[in-house]
Amino acid sequence: MENLAPTLATGDIALEATRRRTFAIISHPDAGKTTLTEKFLLYAGAVQEAGAVHNRGDRKASTSDWMDIERQRGISISSAVLQFPYRGHVFNLLDTPGHKDFSEDTYRVLAAVDAVIMVLDTAKGIEPQTLKLFQVCRSRNLPVITFFNKFDRPGRDPFELLDEVEKQIGLRPTPATWPVGIPGDFRGVIDRRTGEYIRFTRTARGSSLAPEEIVSVERAAEEEGNAWTTAMESCSLLDAIEADVDVESFLAGESTPVFVGSAITNFGVRMLLDAVIDIAPAPAPRTDIDGNDRGLATPFSAFVFKVQANMDPNHRDRLAFARVCSGEFTRGMDATCSRSEKPVSTKYATTAFGADRETIDVAYPGDIIGLINAAGLQIGDTIYASSPVTYPGVPRFAPEVFATARPTDGGRVKQFRRGLAQLDEEGVVQVLRDPDLADSEPILAAVGALQIEVFAYRLASEFNSPVEVNPAIYQAIRITDEKSVDRLRRIGGIRILKRGDNALVALFENKYRLQRLEVDEPELTLTPILADTDSSK
Ligand code: G4P
Repeated sequence: MENLAPTLATGDIALEATRRRTFAIISHPDAGKTTLTEKFLLYAGAVQEAGAVHNRGDRKASTSDWMDIERQRGISISSAVLQFPYRGHVFNLLDTPGHKDFSEDTYRVLAAVDAVIMVLDTAKGIEPQTLKLFQVCRSRNLPVITFFNKFDRPGRDPFELLDEVEKQIGLRPTPATWPVGIPGDFRGVIDRRTGEYIRFTRTARGSSLAPEEIVSVERAAEEEGNAWTTAMESCSLLDAIEADVDVESFLAGESTPVFVGSAITNFGVRMLLDAVIDIAPAPAPRTDIDGNDRGLATPFSAFVFKVQANMDPNHRDRLAFARVCSGEFTRGMDATCSRSEKPVSTKYATTAFGADRETIDVAYPGDIIGLINAAGLQIGDTIYASSPVTYPGVPRFAPEVFATARPTDGGRVKQFRRGLAQLDEEGVVQVLRDPDLADSEPILAAVGALQIEVFAYRLASEFNSPVEVNPAIYQAIRITDEKSVDRLRRIGGIRILKRGDNALVALFENKYRLQRLEVDEPELTLTPILADTDSSK
């Protein structure tokens, strides 16, 4: 895949920033995220024919699905980045895992984007397993555009879906487009912002752009019959409840413009892509830990939101993904990591298009750079040139699943240690160690069980160290400190361990005991880890 964006660069940092749109698509597995991504590339002209990227012939995967375990399960775990130009703008589309067990990973990706497209399957609406992902998105107050997909086939009443978005996610839905025809007999959409009726025509296999025709109200009434009358009635109702797209509340993360379409037939795809330019925000100055905004045109700075090793079996290396927050990045430039105050190598910088890589020579605010083998970079790090800056890191989620891990082959302890360190650093799981036992009996902590599975799989396949993992029965975790540790050690059912960042944590076999302790001995340090959006509440 050709890396098209830099050829459009003008060198004017502020201008380049206004041309960027950096966003992610989140959806329940199977709602159509991959198909929509592929159709975005088709409409942007980055691929000539749908199917070029997303070859479903013998495997259910796209360029961004690169890990075996993902293919086996048809889920996307890793987050890749796509960059493509559209209408004089540069789009950076970040992939997110479509499973709640990876909501922490999604959270990290969301720290690097300016907006989100939430894709729902019209027949299913918001699925309980993914509610948490959507809530994570909501908790970041990012602007969310909603896409009701699969309208080409029988599904639920769109009013019902609007209601669900409002009640379950707490975003006020404001339909930008409204369907003419019911799910299963989908003819076109009314653009509520202009009042125009846009009628679509199917193309064979949806492999080329769907022809669109603007049809006058008179002709529509004549040709669409009841479907038109119903659509007009629905629009009057929406007008009456003032469900109009409101950019201000959208940008504040309070309302969500809704688009209706069908990714497979390309219906509504262009309008969604246009909305990303027309209503999604361009990169804005990022606020540092002291509360100051770093201007877009100030010297280069970037924020590491993801670290991943062995993405490509052909390049067994480690990539740190960073979002450019200010200034111009040029490959080979001098840069410093604000945490370690050590220089960062920028010689090998890449964009990642699934497994294909292209060297990136220059990047601007909103762009994502992959730094290859930039040793020492960790998730949450800030990189800068010239004038120092530190951005707030990415908070960890409170783990809910715990397991013990042990190498099954005693001769492979070195590989086990290496894998443990790497996967901890990537945030695949959190590795908790007993300071006295070091690596010999670590506890793995994760938000969801699939993370533990990925850990075991990657240790075996990438580090050649098969492991046995067994559930560990802990119910709660708190961060503690040296002065509380002695007391906690004297109480049964509590284990004191150290996290990769050297924080001391206390694991509780019984959450009620923890609650009692919090009341009875308030002088103990027992700080909860990020109160994430818990869907079970
Ligand atoms: P995901 O990335 O969110 O997991 O979803 P993906 O795009 O892989 O789509 C899941 C399934 O839904 C695919 O079918 C895809 O073709 C289908 N799909 C996506 N968008 C639409 C749409 O607008 N309308 C309809 N009717 N179907 C849609 P599949 O059977 O798993 O694969 P395939 O055999 O179609 O290739």
